[in-house]
Amino acid sequence: DWTPDSFIETTISSLKEKIGNDKVVLGLSGGVDSSVAAVLLHNAIGKNLHCIFVDNGLLRKDEYTQVLDSYQHMGLNVRGIDAKDRFLSQLAGVKDPEQKRKIIGRVFIEVFDDAAHEVQDVSWLGQGTIYPDVIESVSVNGPSATIKSHHNVGGLPDFMKLKVVEPLNTLFKDEVRKVGKALGIDDVILGRHPFPGPGLAIRILGDITAEKVAILQEADAIYIHNLKASGWYDKVWQAGAIFLPVQSVGVMGDERTYENVICLRAVGSVDGMTADWSHLPYELLAKISNDIINNVKGINRVVYDISSKPPATIEWE
Ligand code: XMP
Repeated sequence: DWTPDSFIETTISSLKEKIGNDKVVLGLSGGVDSSVAAVLLHNAIGKNLHCIFVDNGLLRKDEYTQVLDSYQHMGLNVRGIDAKDRFLSQLAGVKDPEQKRKIIGRVFIEVFDDAAHEVQDVSWLGQGTIYPDVIESVSVNGPSATIKSHHNVGGLPDFMKLKVVEPLNTLFKDEVRKVGKALGIDDVILGRHPFPGPGLAIRILGDITAEKVAILQEADAIYIHNLKASGWYDKVWQAGAIFLPVQSVGVMGDERTYENVICLRAVGSVDGMTADWSHLPYELLAKISNDIINNVKGINRVVYDISSKPPATIEWE
């Protein structure tokens, strides 16, 4: 019978046997999968696991410092790399969603590769790949693959020439959470909503500027704060704010404003393949809207997305 404890025990001993005294590099994303994979590997090989956490400038507000802190508290051997400017400069003027994804994927690989080269004699790449990722990458030539190119799997560049170790590749998401819980990982990490690799870049329609990122981070932080405070964060599968580069007229005091729109998205789902928009209470939506419009300069209108998937996707890009 599968239990988190038996999984942990057998996985740690097989990781020890497989890896021995070799070194492993692993990219942490702040998400559940990479965090659980890292802690398993850390329990098996300790300081020979070298974790790399990249700030691409497209994370949620304060997420980079908070997540890096919690990794350090967990005792992980982790190096944070501030690559904000490198990502944003490569993205300047780019509007096409797939182009943005490609650039972010490429820059991530470059930054990660530079960091990995600084670990002497590394021979393994650790990854938080879970079972559904394995299945999805097998069907990569299917019709849905061209809709959005997910780049979490098989993203290993040839030149890195590392062997791959994926301790979670037989598990489903709920099992990963159970394993994480049994490993003592904080609920703040385990209960996190899924967050796309390209981050806020695909939640800013069209071209990305540092100013738009800052506005979206503020609005998103207010949204997520209110979801947590009201108990709704754990009831929805994924939520986030989207920056719409559409200007509309408003009034602030006696002044006429002409500012952008924030769209709120919250969905219920099992695996992200289909999703229903969440029926958040009107009172909560009203509070979030007021808080955003009163506190985020550059936004004078908030809308709620009532589209389900299919035909809409969860992300807007
Ligand atoms: P969609 O928008 O396709 O999203 O309905 C389904 C789930 O996938 C996430 N998503 C991504 N994750 N890289 C990722 O790592 C991507 O390019 C990407 N695009 C979408 C999305 O957040 C949702 O959980």
